[in-house]
Amino acid sequence: MSLNLSHGKNYDVQGYGLTREDLSPIGESREDTQFDIATLFDEDRRLFPLEFEIGSGKGTFLVQQATQMPEVNFLGVEYARAFWEYAADRVRRHGLNGVRMLHYDATVFVKWYVPDETFRQVHIYFPDPWPKARHHKRRTVREDVLRELCRVLEPNGCVRIVTDHEDYYQWMLEHVARVTDVFEKIPFERPISAGDGEVVGTNFERKYRREGRPFNAMILEKK
Ligand SMILES: C[S@@+](CC[C@H](N)C(=O)[O-])C[C@H]1O[C@@H](n2cnc3c(N)ncnc32)[C@H](O)[C@@H]1O
Repeated sequence: MSLNLSHGKNYDVQGYGLTREDLSPIGESREDTQFDIATLFDEDRRLFPLEFEIGSGKGTFLVQQATQMPEVNFLGVEYARAFWEYAADRVRRHGLNGVRMLHYDATVFVKWYVPDETFRQVHIYFPDPWPKARHHKRRTVREDVLRELCRVLEPNGCVRIVTDHEDYYQWMLEHVARVTDVFEKIPFERPISAGDGEVVGTNFERKYRREGRPFNAMILEKK
């Protein structure tokens, strides 16, 4: 996919955007990797709960939610550089000290950098559906990733998922059925920042809503 979000504009991600070069090198195991996730935030914010978004796109959810929840920290991860730059610049323009944007693969980051019981919630909104069967293994909502997310959730923490893609939703349900030992599937509740008639209010949701697509949503609560 080729993205041109810059239109000649220079984005400033200073203080809000980070890349894998800003992280310490990966060790032999996660325990050997010297990285303290709390240090991503200013000292006076380090005891706040931390939420994680996989695939933040243009950062709309983070900006809306963090504006309404100043006593929560949010870490968004986005592996498409143009979206990451756009989102990090946007977070900086809004002066949202509780938000950081990381340019990396979220699944690799979680596996190698995130200790157990780190996040209060994980948000996955409109994940790429990878419709071709040979690409299904790239889908984010799958058993092994769900088990990793369970590891990094606090007790009773949640994974929140919304998709417009019916085939992917069916696949998700199959994978969710394999993790019922660690997660309970409960009905979706809209975040505080969702607008009237919105499920969450991300960019993709707004685009797909105009196209009249139906959405499916769920919450997986850690047992
Ligand atoms: C369809 S877009 C949805 C963006 C946003 N959540 C929204 O609803 O507007 C999915 C985004 O997830 C990103 N993404 C997919 N897998 C990812 C991963 N493993 N790590 C980081 N970003 C990922 C893609 O680059 C893309 O920007």
